[in-house]
Amino acid sequence: MAESEQCSDNGGVEDLKQLEGLSSEAIIERGKNVVMNTYGRLPMTIVKGDGAWVWDTEERRYLDFLTGLAVNSLGHNHPAIVRAVQEQAQEIMHTSNLYWIPNQVALAERLAEHSFADKVFFCNSGAEANEAAFKLARKYAGKNFGAQKYEVVTLENSFHGRTLATLTLTGQTKYQEGYDPLPVGCSYAKLNDLEDLKAKVNSNTAAVFIEPIQGEGGVLPASGEFLQGARALCDQFGALLIFDEVQCGMGRTGKLFAYEWSGVVPDILTLAKALGGGVPIGAMLATDEAAKAFQPGDHASTFGGNPLATAAGCAVLDVMLEDGFMEGVQERAKYFQKGLEELAGKYQTGEPVRGKGFILGWPVSRLGPEIVEACRLNGLLINCVGGKVLRFLPPLIVEKREMDKALGILDQVFTELWK
Ligand SMILES: Cc1ncc(COP(=O)(O)O)c(C=O)c1O
Repeated sequence: MAESEQCSDNGGVEDLKQLEGLSSEAIIERGKNVVMNTYGRLPMTIVKGDGAWVWDTEERRYLDFLTGLAVNSLGHNHPAIVRAVQEQAQEIMHTSNLYWIPNQVALAERLAEHSFADKVFFCNSGAEANEAAFKLARKYAGKNFGAQKYEVVTLENSFHGRTLATLTLTGQTKYQEGYDPLPVGCSYAKLNDLEDLKAKVNSNTAAVFIEPIQGEGGVLPASGEFLQGARALCDQFGALLIFDEVQCGMGRTGKLFAYEWSGVVPDILTLAKALGGGVPIGAMLATDEAAKAFQPGDHASTFGGNPLATAAGCAVLDVMLEDGFMEGVQERAKYFQKGLEELAGKYQTGEPVRGKGFILGWPVSRLGPEIVEACRLNGLLINCVGGKVLRFLPPLIVEKREMDKALGILDQVFTELWK
């Protein structure tokens, strides 16, 4: 078949690329025919980004205070990430973990140097990182204590991913319905309730999974006391303490890792989202003691830590580790949090704004989805978790005038809706 015929059969070369020239409405209609219906998507198509801003197909501009759900933490199209990806793509994009990958070694070294960890396993997503952590914990417990030690304790309202194992770890039944039977051996304790955790952790516990700040659960921080208690319980019973920093890690709280604020050190830490600045990558970091439970053949991922993804990861860390970067994040985040607190006071929305750094939740007792939609129509992208908490995950590089603009839009939306 001639090349031109092939193209027209498929709707043309441009169509294959990004349906260029079509309206967002037309793209969405076509999408509904062929893309599986797993997301409650908003009626818009984002096609371009720069810093804290994105543009839709109709060239409307939005302030992105959601950043692909904590992924584009350095903003869209950060020049260092673009350059790293372009240069690496020209060299080689993928090899295999049958061979050593220099970028993977460099990224693992950098993560180990700046954390408690000695060893890193790379994968492609948060769920995969938690799946790896679950498997490592069971392997470690089995090897060191025997087959009966396989139970894991996680928290109510937690979110750890959508694979069968990680949705079992996820302490929200709405994600689990319809998928029985789930892997056995998981129980759920209440966040910040040490007595409840004590009642669930015992000598058969292989691991305790905690998000230092629950993101999907409603931006709920674990207290320092709770984390310390969890550490002590894990030590007492020979269980591994696993922190899921897929959402709250990589600078989001104003330190590279959220656990640094508490001083409580886990045995395993999981990362994804912002680690690749938009290129899919996940990682499981572990102490030598935990990591040695895995031997060749015990776990693997075809794409995990490939040259392209780890080039992006190295570029992200280069920027985040620059002198003064985290201090700047902390300063800007305080400014934004104060602005939100002022608005919460002005409109008397009830519970205080919570979170740390640039993972912030503003509880609203009503109108959550309506507020999100009004913000979107006014050029600000945020979301609402559990229908009741407005969640803000702006890029860490957001500027003061952009925060002022976002606060102005929120003020206007609340004036119109909060009656
Ligand atoms: C804390 C946490 N863990 C795990 C995941 C799952 O990550 P992924 O969607 O990359 O599998 C998420 C996703 O939102 C998350 O917030």
